[in-house]
Amino acid sequence: MSGLTEETQDNKEKIMSLFADVQSDMATVDEAITKELSASNELLTDVSVHLLKGGGKRLRPALVLLTGKLGDYDREKLVAVAAAVEIIHMATLVHDDVVDRSLVRRGVPTVNARWGERVSVLTGDFLFARSFSLLAQQGDNDIVKVMANVVSEMSIGEFEQMTATYDWKQEEQKYFERINKKTAFFIAESCWVGGYVAGLRGSELEAIRKYGYGVGMSFQIIDDILDFTASEEELGKPVGSDLRSGILTLPVIYALQVSPQAKELQEIINSRKIDNKEVWRVKEILTACNALEYSYDKATEYIDMAKKNLGSIEKSERIKDSLDDIATFVIARRF
Ligand code: IPE
Ligand code: IPE
Ligand code: MG
Ligand code: MG
Repeated sequence: MSGLTEETQDNKEKIMSLFADVQSDMATVDEAITKELSASNELLTDVSVHLLKGGGKRLRPALVLLTGKLGDYDREKLVAVAAAVEIIHMATLVHDDVVDRSLVRRGVPTVNARWGERVSVLTGDFLFARSFSLLAQQGDNDIVKVMANVVSEMSIGEFEQMTATYDWKQEEQKYFERINKKTAFFIAESCWVGGYVAGLRGSELEAIRKYGYGVGMSFQIIDDILDFTASEEELGKPVGSDLRSGILTLPVIYALQVSPQAKELQEIINSRKIDNKEVWRVKEILTACNALEYSYDKATEYIDMAKKNLGSIEKSERIKDSLDDIATFVIARRF
């Protein structure tokens, strides 16, 4: 497939092995996405094809299906909801790449880089509308409400992130609140919706949501660590970009509190001129005060919490093992 390097192809295989229990239905989810994105406009079709080719980990729809297997698996409904969830994710990424001025994602140029901001805004709108239409067709207002809330919380999280750029005085607690809104909430509700469609209620459904919350918090902390430690080839998106655009993530917020070089770090941030040289220097500062280990430990705490919640779910050991493996993957991942 064009655009996919050998590395991303390998990664795709690695992640598909984690989704083995729902593998054939994941293919149906992709078909449902393709069908949902068909449009009469040629340019919009080109953009959709570009997005579909880019792939991505498909973590959220896989979680919808897997958590659906913890109850009465309603294939048709779960596939539709999983497709809608991935389309929401695609929309948020298209818009996020405009907000972050990112030029590469999933190893290929972003919609923004290739077609510009106007096309990106309209594509994101189209994707949101298609996904909510698909959700509404399931005939359950609660599903629509929950996912609408996910998108509004995510927007608020992105606003909070924007307001906090270059703010070296920000508290760690604010970071955790922000990544909850931006990322964890969506992953938590993806798990919730799978369990909900499968008929689970009460404490079991709450445990599934908490599992997703832990996975989601950890997922974003790792994403923020990888922005310092991975390569563009591994991630399929630019590295060092958070700091460059003034977004202070957990390793930096921690270093500002404990590093003997905190003053220098503050000055780099305040200068608002952060290029490769400054990113390298900040990496040295982070390494010297174990800020990356600290962040990794926090991610591990969330993953442990996620796994613990699987214990209170009755059905089934096999699916719970897969969810446990996914949680392990989230902290070990390099892509
Ligand atoms: C990217 O999500 C946005 C974050 C929450 C960090 P993913 O890392 O799941 O993106 P894809 O779908 O695999 O490209
Ligand atoms: C998550 O944050 C993006 C969304 C909530 C849409 P990032 O800005 O860190 O995501 P990447 O790194 O661009 O994938
Ligand atoms: Mg971004
Ligand atoms: Mg990121």
